[in-house]
Amino acid sequence: MKVPLNDRRLEIYREFTRGARIDEITEKYRISRISVWKFSKKLEELGYVVERGRKGYRTAEKPDPSPFDMALSVKEIPGIDEFYYFHEIDSTNRFAKENERCAVFAERQTEGRGRVGRRWESEKGGIYFSVSLDLNIPVSDIPKITLTGGLAACKSLEKYDAKIKWPNDVLVDGKKVCGILSQFAGEELSSKIIMGLGINVRNRIPDYLRNRAISLVEIDPDVRITDIFSSLCKNLGTYLKMFPKRWDRILQEWKRLSDTIGRQVEVTVGNQRFEGVAADIDHDGGLVIERGGETVKVISGECFYTNY
Ligand code: BTN
Repeated sequence: MKVPLNDRRLEIYREFTRGARIDEITEKYRISRISVWKFSKKLEELGYVVERGRKGYRTAEKPDPSPFDMALSVKEIPGIDEFYYFHEIDSTNRFAKENERCAVFAERQTEGRGRVGRRWESEKGGIYFSVSLDLNIPVSDIPKITLTGGLAACKSLEKYDAKIKWPNDVLVDGKKVCGILSQFAGEELSSKIIMGLGINVRNRIPDYLRNRAISLVEIDPDVRITDIFSSLCKNLGTYLKMFPKRWDRILQEWKRLSDTIGRQVEVTVGNQRFEGVAADIDHDGGLVIERGGETVKVISGECFYTNY
């Protein structure tokens, strides 16, 4: 389903959620009563329960995920014009790469992509979400935008005491709950960034990952995909609006939520390996590793904790 973010259906949906009178809706949006009725039927097909009173319509129950609430949340992200909602897709990052200024959510992915060519388990119940951003930033700023995405995701899970593992894994109880794959799809002067986020919300974690990954439902049986999604969009909106001008502030917040600083780490970059204490994150978003009085800075790579 494709929902342009200026689609009037979104505004009418918002009216339904507050139980607006039909006359009000028809006048305000200059549409007929039959169109309002048809839209309420469409919502029912999508799993919403609409109460039709004598004077107005009200959404009494919503499915989770709720596509229309999600589309309203996507409006918080700057530079996005369209929202796509899929029951199933190969990869939302693949789709976002081929489309401009869009946000894409899928209930499940058949070929979810993880970092360093890995596969991302994408069973129903999780958030599989990508945005295609026209940021016009130099390639050298990609690590910063990656950290910004991680911070937004972590803030959305603050009530679960989430922490960020450099560069951008989000952990709850020391286990991975969210992964981010940022891809650069532009040219030097017209950069397009695809940011893909996978969050384990109600999906089952396969046995082989259970000691490393967690799903929020394991600690919060009532967690709703739509609520986490809406908080994610709000935070992405906040931090993307701050980027790049207020990068210092983003970095400061990132450090406050860091799980990595102070830990003994091993970072692999291709076939290079760096070991030592993660001392800091420098101004470019790189990890500063100290060992025997010497420091190295790593801009991107796979980070492992060795004193865990
Ligand atoms: C990681 O390996 O930690 C990054 C995982 C990123 C997964 C997300 S799910 C939505 C988007 N679509 C993809 O195919 N991958 C990213």
